[in-house]
Amino acid sequence: MQPRILFVCLGNICRSPMAEAALRARAVAAGIALTIDSAGTGSWHVGNPPDPRAQAEALRHGIDISAYRARQVREEDFRTFDTIYALDPYNLRDLHAVAPRRPLAKVALLMDLVPGRAGTAVIDPFYGDEHDFAAAWDDVDAAAAQIVAQFSRR
Ligand code: 4NP
Repeated sequence: MQPRILFVCLGNICRSPMAEAALRARAVAAGIALTIDSAGTGSWHVGNPPDPRAQAEALRHGIDISAYRARQVREEDFRTFDTIYALDPYNLRDLHAVAPRRPLAKVALLMDLVPGRAGTAVIDPFYGDEHDFAAAWDDVDAAAAQIVAQFSRR
């Protein structure tokens, strides 16, 4: 079965949909088959499309994420995904709090993948402007490159 990767942020309307998009694009470009999804620890935005600023940032990179819809992370995710990446340390803490006793999924901090960024957050652009969304994209794309490199070496 192909590797299954879930990205988790707070609302699933800004950072994790961009991470999903960046990895989808890089996986396609590298010819690697991955199952990719995203979710939020919170429920406020369930059913909503990504923030218009996240949609615009993804589109700047040629990726249309307008059809994505936010969902909340659920216990089943810890069985159906191999790896769950938290977009910041708070999300990581919240993920551990809702994880079942024996999760199959490995739960990790996304930026730990990026040299020099271990332990750090993908900037939360929700209260920021388009520059913050661009910075968040750069972060998730750098991590996506590392994920693709991992699978390319196999
Ligand atoms: P995300 O951004 O977690 O990257 O999707 C946020 C979305 C919503 C809120 C905060 C961050 N909020 O406070 O509603």
